[in-house]
Amino acid sequence: MTTDPHTRPARFGLVRRLPVEHFADALRADVLKGLTGRPKTLPPKWFYDARGSELFEEITRLPEYYPTRAETEILRARSAAVAGATGARTLVEIGSGSSRKTRLLLDALAAHGTLERYAGLDVSEDALREAGAELCREYPELHVDAVVTDLQTDLVLPPAEHGPRLVAFLGGTLGNLDADERPAFYAGLRRQLADGDALLLGADLVKDPEVLVRAYDDAQGVTAEFNKNVLRVLDRELGADFDPDAFEHRAVWDAAAERIEMRLRARTAQRVELPALNVVTDFDAGEELRTEISVKFRRDGLTAELARGGFAVREWWTDRAGRFALLLAEPA
Ligand SMILES: C[S@@+](CC[C@H](N)C(=O)[O-])C[C@H]1O[C@@H](n2cnc3c(N)ncnc32)[C@H](O)[C@@H]1O
Repeated sequence: MTTDPHTRPARFGLVRRLPVEHFADALRADVLKGLTGRPKTLPPKWFYDARGSELFEEITRLPEYYPTRAETEILRARSAAVAGATGARTLVEIGSGSSRKTRLLLDALAAHGTLERYAGLDVSEDALREAGAELCREYPELHVDAVVTDLQTDLVLPPAEHGPRLVAFLGGTLGNLDADERPAFYAGLRRQLADGDALLLGADLVKDPEVLVRAYDDAQGVTAEFNKNVLRVLDRELGADFDPDAFEHRAVWDAAAERIEMRLRARTAQRVELPALNVVTDFDAGEELRTEISVKFRRDGLTAELARGGFAVREWWTDRAGRFALLLAEPA
């Protein structure tokens, strides 16, 4: 007998891992530290309100933004191998966003006959709700959990009893963490993994700087809008009076650190008030606020730092053009 999926009980659960005031407090602390320091910086997680998450989805469709297409190409070719190697019952995705590429993994695990659960972990509740609703419609047998959390301060996986667990961290989001932040991320993840669990990591690779800069500074200006969205978040959440048009979007390749930096450059000298923090901050003309780093990786370096973090890389796949890597690792 078949069951009408529309009459099934809900299989979607949303958990807020952190108390309601956590994100408000964390935003205030990050902005206070970041805008009073030199150079001025903000962590990229604050891009992703509902509008920011939509803009990121638009970015993934831009002709210049190769990472999504490259990673999709690899997932199409390799998801069956991932399913065969892991036999995962639970797919956990860190920084899941729209969970669009995730379907390739879900389909492969379902075809392999092991898939039972999916858990998306993201800072953006809007993105989690939207993706969760779509996944429940598309996968009537799947338990879907959405976990609103911060991957840097509160990364908690579903319990090992739901294993084997495959933890996917796609999109090159690892590159948003600097070299001195990644060890803590690996350690937090490694601590929770049991024998038989696996990590599937998408990493953008070092390449021609022109290609990289174009990917972060597209002709239509979508990435510029995404970048300036963080100022709108500060205006709304902290009562700040940033004028996003008074800032110019910049994408800069730092050859020494092998990373792209997204910055907002003040077009003129200006004073910005942040009443919620009781702070006034001055920008010189041309002064830049760094809003994101995106580290690009090389095979040897990434394999070595994963080994130091307690992971053994078992597979390293790239797209045909060698722009992006997807690697499968096990707890060592
Ligand atoms: C570059 S997007 C990648 C989205 C998706 N995984 C993909 O591959 O297209 C980064 C994702 O990570 C989430 N994110 C960023 N910083 C985060 C943090 N500190 N904790 C949890 N999620 C975060 C964002 O909301 C966004 O969905």
